[in-house]
Amino acid sequence: MLADADRILSTPRLRLRGFAVRDATPLNALMERPGVPEWLKIARADPPWDAWWRALRGGGARARRYTVTQAGDDRLIGLVGLSREGRLHYLIDPDLWGHGLATEAVRAVLPDALADPRTGDIVAEVFDANPASARVLQKLGFVVRRRTRAQRIGHLYDEPATVYGLARTQGHAQ
Ligand SMILES: CC(C)(COP(=O)(O)OP(=O)(O)OC[C@H]1O[C@@H](n2cnc3c(N)ncnc32)[C@H](O)[C@@H]1OP(=O)(O)O)[C@@H](O)C(=O)NCCC(=O)NCCS
Repeated sequence: MLADADRILSTPRLRLRGFAVRDATPLNALMERPGVPEWLKIARADPPWDAWWRALRGGGARARRYTVTQAGDDRLIGLVGLSREGRLHYLIDPDLWGHGLATEAVRAVLPDALADPRTGDIVAEVFDANPASARVLQKLGFVVRRRTRAQRIGHLYDEPATVYGLARTQGHAQ
């Protein structure tokens, strides 16, 4: 199994590659944009960047974390991550929302993840107040597994959320 940094996935508009220390600054800038951090449970990057990068790359071969870039431009415009438990997360630069890029990026990751026989079902928890994220999953064939409640970063109370799942067998057909 290749390390994250060695995995490169190409789509018509995107190039997904492993995280690099140079991604920390643009990632932090993205995490400060309104509409981005409140939906996520990933940490801001902090110096020393090397320690942060190693932590982000932790989890072994089954954890996949991709930097999303546009074809021909190596700057980070988003992330797609899949934990070793099969939990999916993703984000895209708000300037680029609504053009199908999140869907294209996650679609690229699914076959790569499912090619690993140790990968089980893939799940994503989405706040019900975040319909764009739910739509990405629906377009990729994820189905509702269960309703739940979860706490958004910086909020005091749990809010309604939905766990979406993609069964291994379904994922191969996407
Ligand atoms: C969720 C996110 C990744 C979507 O990125 P994107 O590149 O705009 O996604 P896509 O263009 O592939 O798909 C978005 C879909 O949601 C739809 N959508 C957008 N806003 C919507 C809204 N308020 N209500 C319903 N649908 C909405 C779009 O129309 C599109 O669907 P369509 O292709 O059927 O028209 C982006 O909004 C983001 O980074 N949000 C912050 C981080 C986040 O929420 N991550 C997910 C955590 S689970």
